[in-house]
Amino acid sequence: MTPLNRLSDYLLEKQAQGLYRQRELLAGPQGVRVNITGREYLSFCSNDYLGLANDPDLIAALKQGADQFGVGAGAAHLISGHTQLHQELEQALAAHVGRSRALLFSTGYMANLGLLTSLAQKGDLVLQDKLNHASLIDGGLYAAAQFKRYRHADMSHLASCLNTSNVANKFIVTDGIFSMDGDIAPLPEIMRLAREYNAVVIVDDAHGLGVLGETGGGVCQQFNLMADDAPIIMGTLGKAFGVSGAFVAGSETLIEYLIQTARTYIYTTAMPACLAAASLCSLQKIQTEAWRRTHLQSLIQQFRDGCAALELSLMESHTPIQPLVLGDEGRALQWSQVLKEQGILVKAIRPPTVAKGTARLRITLSATHTADDVNRLLNALGELR
Ligand SMILES: Cc1ncc(COP(=O)(O)O)c(C=O)c1O
Repeated sequence: MTPLNRLSDYLLEKQAQGLYRQRELLAGPQGVRVNITGREYLSFCSNDYLGLANDPDLIAALKQGADQFGVGAGAAHLISGHTQLHQELEQALAAHVGRSRALLFSTGYMANLGLLTSLAQKGDLVLQDKLNHASLIDGGLYAAAQFKRYRHADMSHLASCLNTSNVANKFIVTDGIFSMDGDIAPLPEIMRLAREYNAVVIVDDAHGLGVLGETGGGVCQQFNLMADDAPIIMGTLGKAFGVSGAFVAGSETLIEYLIQTARTYIYTTAMPACLAAASLCSLQKIQTEAWRRTHLQSLIQQFRDGCAALELSLMESHTPIQPLVLGDEGRALQWSQVLKEQGILVKAIRPPTVAKGTARLRITLSATHTADDVNRLLNALGELR
């Protein structure tokens, strides 16, 4: 017997429990219509909220970036991988979210891991919403600080965690929009508690950036939270931006500190410069093409009204993430399978990604869906019900 023998047992067990995870094999680009093994599906399961992942202008920008800067960055940022395009993107992102500086990371997972392990030191306290993304939870677990999770969006629980702690340096860490529930964090209340207990707030705006706020500045723009309230924002470039990568935005001192200390920044190859070129193009569209956000909002309302008429109860979300909780993982898988047979792609999200008994269809809307697309989904859900 070796430790590898237990792998097949694990796989068999997951299959028996209906918890086995499998990948779809796309034969073309991301979008609201995807090709899987030669069949076209109407998709409601990407995070490409603004429909930019296959935008012709982004593709052209990426090609031009590759012509000028090649494909691979070839080195870490601190060696020779940091180009003018990275620098330009950092400045543009910082301005977009209204903070002094920004620092690029290759993925959001790495940004969160690097940020938390650098900032939260031994003797500090990190308080996180229970439904925060896995990358924040992992950052909290790997950091040397004491780590506690408060009940989801429960401000009295957060207050009591703060109140019962005698630690001097405290961080409150929250998703802006929760990735599997779609609700928005109660940021004004969190900020009030942070001020009262002298804690620093870190907001992961992976799903809000580009989608919320008048110019797509994200959840902090929507709530009008300036640097005094929300000094540290993490954003991703792989969701509404339609590209890949991430950034942390904050003060000059914060960014210089992260450059010196964040291991997931220092010890990895820089994101390809051509992705920075595509991200710059995306940012310009996010700022100038407000119709994407307006249309998205009307689709969200249409979908919610349609579900209400069908007596399908959705979670309390007014963002592009519209989860339909079905409870049992077998039921969620079955609904997903029936929809797929009808040419509609919606993935079942099961434990451990969500709590046991809350398996769901995570339906996501994109600015490139049409009202007819949403009606087609509603009709299919109506029949399933
Ligand atoms: C809230 C949140 N934070 C961070 C991440 C990680 O970002 P990335 O996909 O760029 O690694 C994700 C999703 O992947 C997320 O949903």
